[in-house]
Amino acid sequence: MSKAVVRVVRHPLVQHKLSLMRQKETTTVKFRTLLREVSLLLGYEITRDLEIEARAIETPLASVTAPFLSGKKLVLISILRAGNGLLDGMLDLVPSARVGHVGIYRDPDTLKAVEYYFKVPEDLGERPVIVLDPMLATANTAIAAVEKIKSTGARRMTMACLLAAPEGIRAFHEIHPDVPVITAAIDEHLNDHGYIVPGLGDAGDRIYGTR
Ligand code: URA
Repeated sequence: MSKAVVRVVRHPLVQHKLSLMRQKETTTVKFRTLLREVSLLLGYEITRDLEIEARAIETPLASVTAPFLSGKKLVLISILRAGNGLLDGMLDLVPSARVGHVGIYRDPDTLKAVEYYFKVPEDLGERPVIVLDPMLATANTAIAAVEKIKSTGARRMTMACLLAAPEGIRAFHEIHPDVPVITAAIDEHLNDHGYIVPGLGDAGDRIYGTR
């Protein structure tokens, strides 16, 4: 089997914005704005391999064969609730994308994934799918979400996150070696509560201003 793929987007704009997001004094408004901007940049990288077809068009000056996206529309699947923070920027980039939601939370005591909602577009097997979760920490939620999404027939998937822990990447690729992970950074480790260190805290809380 080929090696599981992990891609870190080291673009200076991504790294700068991520550093601003890490700072504890960054406000909710600023955090949300930055996350939207970073998602656009991550989305640009993730969609690099979308299929293209040539079509004949007329410009005001000439006839030309020009590239257009081809195939069935991309699907973005947000793992609630923090995944929605990545969703907005990605939708700015690909407004025609179809959207799914998976409601999974980490039980605070066991850190295990508990599913409470699942709604995704049809024909996932024929579409490229990007699964969105800003924090790949223990990866329990991402593993469970991708398992469930695969059970609907999806075959071409990418796991998009903002930050990943080495433990999370290992755990995720043990179960899903066929799903590339794309992230803005791989941090040092997980703490005893399953938080990424140095990280940025609880992504959902920082996006929505909850505690
Ligand atoms: N989820 C978060 O929001 N932050 C972490 O550090 C880990 C999981």
